[in-house]
Amino acid sequence: MTHISVIANDKGGVAKSQVVVHLAAALARAGKRVLVVDMDPQANATRRLGIKLDRSNLYVSVSEVIKADAEAAGHGHTIACRWINDETNEPTPEAQMIDVLPSRQDLVNRESEAAVLGSNRRLRKALSGGWLEESYDVVLIDTQPTLGPLTQMSMTAAHTTLIPVTAAYDAFEGALRVRAFVEQHASDLANPDLHVGGVIITRYRAQLSEEEFQAANIREEFGDLVWRLTGKYKLTRSEDSQTGLIPRYIPEWTRFGEADSAAASLTAWNDLKGRQSVAVFDALARTYIARFLDKAKEQVA
Ligand SMILES: Nc1ncnc2c1ncn2[C@@H]1O[C@H](COP(=O)(O)OP(=O)(O)OP(=O)(O)O)[C@@H](O)[C@H]1O
Ligand SMILES: [Mg+2]
Repeated sequence: MTHISVIANDKGGVAKSQVVVHLAAALARAGKRVLVVDMDPQANATRRLGIKLDRSNLYVSVSEVIKADAEAAGHGHTIACRWINDETNEPTPEAQMIDVLPSRQDLVNRESEAAVLGSNRRLRKALSGGWLEESYDVVLIDTQPTLGPLTQMSMTAAHTTLIPVTAAYDAFEGALRVRAFVEQHASDLANPDLHVGGVIITRYRAQLSEEEFQAANIREEFGDLVWRLTGKYKLTRSEDSQTGLIPRYIPEWTRFGEADSAAASLTAWNDLKGRQSVAVFDALARTYIARFLDKAKEQVA
């Protein structure tokens, strides 16, 4: 079964799109086929996956797909991630595993249709019809920083909600709002099984005692739902190289911002910081696979 996660926090800038893009890449490295659905009119995830808005070649976006309000409307409208290997000019191995239902700014026009009967089911309908299960192991839906109609439509289509949160009070409050919203409105969204599957601490600055304090608050409130990263990365490229420990939470590192600005994968760099940042998201993908994909396999068996 394809596992569908919506990434949500109505606090802006907590790294929702960052988690979507680089978790997609890490899942791809782990051999999973991933569809990214960009439900944010800002289209940050679309751009960061290498897809350029080209006025002479307007792609069909998720806005048209949900406007169709039809079963399987998304089929045939996914486009491949455009990360290209500079030397070979071919899609990178990660890009070959990632497709996108891209966003454009006019997606905002779908918000006013929230009053149309059943409109919150439009994305779920677009993803139905069996085509998704044939092609993807995971769907990650990026959302804008609100709990408005487009995020609600995304929640109706998902199995789990993931909440990225920075270790700051306002972002923590955002995470509480998302959890309360899911708990109170899953049935209203025609998706009673929707639940929070993880709280991901992002942009963490371990050296700041205020952030340590806020991270402790988040752990106290969300308990085991807070994902702790584990594992090691190599300090040098050689086989017998020493290893370093992966930080517990996604750290604030300039490399993450650089990758997003350059619309590149973290694997585009072949230096120590590159290995470290790739290892962080590989650890996140291991947690995703253990919590959602392996568990589903166990239940089937
Ligand atoms: N771990 C990190 N270290 C450094 N910079 C980061 C990190 N995570 C995200 N950023 C940068 O912070 C900015 C905000 O991140 P991002 O756009 O992913 O957040 P968002 O929650 O999707 O924002 P919005 O609410 O606008 O959709 C971006 O410039 C991104 O590259
Ligand atoms: Mg975003």
